Amino acid sequence: IPVDPFDLVIFGGTGDLARRKILPGLFRRFCSGQMPEEARITGAARSEMDDDAYRALVGEAIREFGGPRACDHGTLEAFLERVGYEQVDAMGEGGWSALKARMRPGCVRAFYFSVAPSLFGALAERLKGFGLADDDSRVVVEKPFGKDLASARALNLTLAQHFDETQIYRIDHYLGKETVQNLMAVRFGNVLFEPLWNAQFVDHIQITVAETVDVSGRGGYYDQSGAMRDMVQNHLMQLLCLIAMEPPARFEPDAVRDEKLKVIRALDPVDHHHIVRGQYAPDDNQPGYRAHVEDPRSRTESFVAMRCHISNWRWAGTPFYLRTGKMLRARTSEIAVVFKDAPHSIFGADAGRHRNVLAIRLQPNEGMTLDVTIKEPGPGGMRLVDVPLDMSFAEALGPEAEEVPDAYERLIMDVIRGNQTLFMRGDEVEAAWAWTDPIIEGWQTRGDVPKPYDAHSSGPEDALMLMHRDGRKWREIRT
Ligand code: BG6
Repeated sequence: IPVDPFDLVIFGGTGDLARRKILPGLFRRFCSGQMPEEARITGAARSEMDDDAYRALVGEAIREFGGPRACDHGTLEAFLERVGYEQVDAMGEGGWSALKARMRPGCVRAFYFSVAPSLFGALAERLKGFGLADDDSRVVVEKPFGKDLASARALNLTLAQHFDETQIYRIDHYLGKETVQNLMAVRFGNVLFEPLWNAQFVDHIQITVAETVDVSGRGGYYDQSGAMRDMVQNHLMQLLCLIAMEPPARFEPDAVRDEKLKVIRALDPVDHHHIVRGQYAPDDNQPGYRAHVEDPRSRTESFVAMRCHISNWRWAGTPFYLRTGKMLRARTSEIAVVFKDAPHSIFGADAGRHRNVLAIRLQPNEGMTLDVTIKEPGPGGMRLVDVPLDMSFAEALGPEAEEVPDAYERLIMDVIRGNQTLFMRGDEVEAAWAWTDPIIEGWQTRGDVPKPYDAHSSGPEDALMLMHRDGRKWREIRT
């Protein structure tokens, strides 16, 4: 379904995110017929450039990142006709009137701040000051949304001076992923799971976001951030919220976000014995973390594993284990709900220990597996074995599953539609920082040094111990 006609301005329109994600995403939506004839996209940045030069840059980015349709010259040209450029001085006066002249009455206006957060205030002020933004305009901001509670609060206050909360779209691209939304469909669209979704039946939940990439090329940012700020405070916490929240009354922005916020607020502070930090070590074949950042003695973590608890009626006593890291064995994101043992085994001790596990694979090979205990075939008596009921979404849904929009495409279209359900509200972001801040401060005051781990491993040994101590085991990291 096409969205309303829009004027989208991308500040930082020549930057990496715009080239890799935003513009190719818009192109794919254009190809799928979702972009109306009157849609216009304007890149805005410091560089001096005219429309044609910017179109050439955008064309190149789309050929690289836009998918198979980018080879279709006619389609790409038709898309580029909707693209223009304005040189704008974020901190000064230059370019703003010209940018305003590009805005058309009657079109939805969206302003994407794909720039350093230090510029958010200046941009917001000028958008209002030069009369580009009205009460229905939207601003889109990206992570990092602050580096702690104080800075996130300051950013929220800055934006709030110029825009209402209903106009602010804070992107966490994990919320735009198809399977992440599927978490809600699985939980609240089936009667099967929800009655068991609590401390009475769930032994524990594991959330793993493992990556194979290192931090080279973005060491400057990453070393100031680390896995906790880069991944846990946002992506993993969003997954945790969706898996743990109470059913919202409706699938509507504030109904969903209220429930997520309650989860974050119910999180206990994390005991430092329940966290393991790691940093990938060099080996014969490749440099380690410290060679990828400026500081040769850096203590920033590229891996973190932790056990946390949600103190509410549903989850009291059920641990949530989170782990994420760079340079691990495989790129895989998975949530596993490990159910408790059956209350009594009628098959005796020989039958062994069997558990139902519901694993939701977020990426790659999106799908779900439910481990079910059955009788081992053959005449050997009542021996039990766990077998997976395995469903790959691509196989189950066919070609439609292949054509799902990527996270950015979906989220940008949601901005135009004015649907904030998959965006973080200001209080949610602040609550998440309020929970992570003491953890990070604790590391700093104790002078904590991350444990080295081998490249292509599952992370430091201590992370395995974190589970073993509790008589539990991480699921294997594999694709
Ligand atoms: C980003 C982080 O937000 O998410 C990166 O800054 C990380 O460090 C990326 O690699 C992971 O996203 P995805 O979609 O590849 O799982």
